[in-house]
Amino acid sequence: MVEEIKKVAIIFGTRPEAIKMAPVVKELKQSQNLNPVVITTAQHRELLDQVLELFQLEVDYDLDIMKPKQNLSQITIKILQQLKPLFEQEEPDLVLVHGDTTTTFTSSLAAFYAQIPIGHVEAGLRTYEKYDPFPEEMNRRLCGVLTEMHFAPTEQAKNNLLQEGIDESQVFITGNTIVDALLEIYEKDYRFSKGVINDLDLLKEKLILVTTHRRENLGQPLVNICRAIKELVVSYPQAEVVFPVHPNPKISKIVKNVLSDVPNVHLIEPLNYKEFINLMVRADIILTDSGGIQEEASSLGKPTLLLRETTERPEAIVSGSVQLVGTNKTRIVKAGLNLLHEQPITSSSSVVTDLYGDGQAAVRIRELLITYFNNINK
Ligand code: UD1
Ligand code: UDP
Repeated sequence: MVEEIKKVAIIFGTRPEAIKMAPVVKELKQSQNLNPVVITTAQHRELLDQVLELFQLEVDYDLDIMKPKQNLSQITIKILQQLKPLFEQEEPDLVLVHGDTTTTFTSSLAAFYAQIPIGHVEAGLRTYEKYDPFPEEMNRRLCGVLTEMHFAPTEQAKNNLLQEGIDESQVFITGNTIVDALLEIYEKDYRFSKGVINDLDLLKEKLILVTTHRRENLGQPLVNICRAIKELVVSYPQAEVVFPVHPNPKISKIVKNVLSDVPNVHLIEPLNYKEFINLMVRADIILTDSGGIQEEASSLGKPTLLLRETTERPEAIVSGSVQLVGTNKTRIVKAGLNLLHEQPITSSSSVVTDLYGDGQAAVRIRELLITYFNNINK
């Protein structure tokens, strides 16, 4: 038995961290042994707020750091400066971080400076390419060396950590919490609130869902991706593209320049997670450079072209649901047309594989935390 209630500071700042931490917050709140304190850096603002609202996540502290066009050093400094006094005030027994953003690494560094143990959710993902993805590969590796409890989503992620010399007693395979979130939010026969989506005749047209945001794709690679999308719809006019555009001006400017006036291409604002997941369910193929969407797409059995040169999620490549196509225009168009010709029009789908988890990851994390505190109390 845990003798006293332990305080766990749960920190996140961007859209995907919030989506993937929401199930963990929920589980920890239900535990009688753990007292979660929710801190958001708000590295993202609008993208984060959509998630907070959907999951009804109550935040105890909002550091509100987002400013347009700020660089990585500015994000890092603001988070470090604000977390120090907050840790002194709250004195958490453990800090829980997620994934590989600047919020992740910087929060783990602040916890290390305050000598607070760290739990890393979605630990062990690797490309072993220092600058790809940038800065995420080093964010997760740097966080990893500071971490006490590594919650690895898959066997492969665990093996990466073991090969790096992390003691097996500190690595736990939990599954990815994205599957917990997906199962909670997915709704059969969902009706969209966005006009453009309802207006598409999804039983006649093939739906291509697109997202991009990676820093290493900014500039020419993104121009190539957009030109490939244009060529795809010209070559295959029965396809409709829905592209929720990331609010980063370095993305939206290029996307709008190349794709604004292209028939059958619908550039829309980022969708809230419920709308987005249900749009994935209706999509025939997905083109993305996202991390989380690779996991969701393979959970939903959606053929996906990954617009990157590397991936830290090789499981989906091996299973065949995701193809790594990079950012070369000809390659994207060829792979896209192949899929469009092969793929029957989607009528519906639901979670079809448990490659990345079974929906119980957050429960496992809660139980592992309770065991951890029990052991250090002995
Ligand atoms: C960040 C993470 C990336 C993660 C991605 C998920 C870092 C360095 N990058 O990338 O790992 O995959 O989030 O989406 O941590 N913006 C808004 N409103 C928002 C969000 C962003 O206006 O709600 C704009 C701002 O101009 C901001 C810019 O987007 O400066 C970039 O945001 P930033 O958090 O630096 O990086 P992302 O590319 O979103
Ligand atoms: N997502 C969303 N609305 C959108 C686009 C994406 O809710 O318009 C969700 C998506 O389902 C996934 C997460 O955002 O769970 C992925 O975020 P992103 O691609 O920004 O980051 P990454 O996963 O690459 O870190």
